[in-house]
Amino acid sequence: MDWGMENRLKQLMPHGKCFFMPIDHGYFQGPTRSLEKPGETIKPLLPYFDALFCTRGVLRSAIDTAIDKPIILRVSGCTSMVGKDLANEELTTSVEEVIRVNAAAVGISVFIGSDYEKETLKNLSAMVNECERYGIPVMAVTAVGKEMEKREARYLGLCCRIAAELGARVVKTYWCEKDFDKVVSGCPVPVIMAGGPKCETELEVLEFVHDGMQKGAVGLNLGRNVWQSPHPVAIAKALNAIVHKNASLKEASEILVKAKEIKK
Ligand code: 5RP
Repeated sequence: MDWGMENRLKQLMPHGKCFFMPIDHGYFQGPTRSLEKPGETIKPLLPYFDALFCTRGVLRSAIDTAIDKPIILRVSGCTSMVGKDLANEELTTSVEEVIRVNAAAVGISVFIGSDYEKETLKNLSAMVNECERYGIPVMAVTAVGKEMEKREARYLGLCCRIAAELGARVVKTYWCEKDFDKVVSGCPVPVIMAGGPKCETELEVLEFVHDGMQKGAVGLNLGRNVWQSPHPVAIAKALNAIVHKNASLKEASEILVKAKEIKK
């Protein structure tokens, strides 16, 4: 692996593990609760995550250029929650722009099994072709659009494998209760867990993240379950401990409780 590629991957995944903070939601759902001022939302969370996932628009308008975290630039979009089909994405950004904003990686969605499967896989391939020339890793996001019931192991395993075969260096997918270990073991590149809509309880979040890490994920990309929580710092701290300190579920829960107490 070339030095640049390796260096970027190590920035993103210190010691091979990672906690990415996504704030890219506005690219298809517009204003999102708790993301009204993205720069303010992330400020207290900075000590706990490894990289920030966002669009160039939010990066330029809301993120301090002195930020000391690597940026993962979202490079697909052009659809919305109120449009016909979320899967009908295009590439939104050139590799020149990726370099201009000094991003360490790019993130791009693929919608496998949708009417736009081929187009989104072509987007991924095109980005890989360009980014590999400059040593920039591509993270594929295995998106399901509004069809959340697709989040089961066979489908997710298929998506992850295809994304990796097309050259993604990292794949982001959903955790699933059954056979998540098979999703991970069938994918030749690191798998990162996505969040999805907010869980009912904080414990549920810690449970699925802990389980996924035990089953081979290298980390997570969790947004709403962190910054829409009434205790974003406490949950971020507990998640960081699971990812980077191999904390047990009990230890992570204790960290959460203690951090909530400090805030009072
Ligand atoms: C959308 C994305 C987002 O980064 C993703 O939704 C992560 O955020 P959350 O944990 O809130 O679901 O890639 O496809």
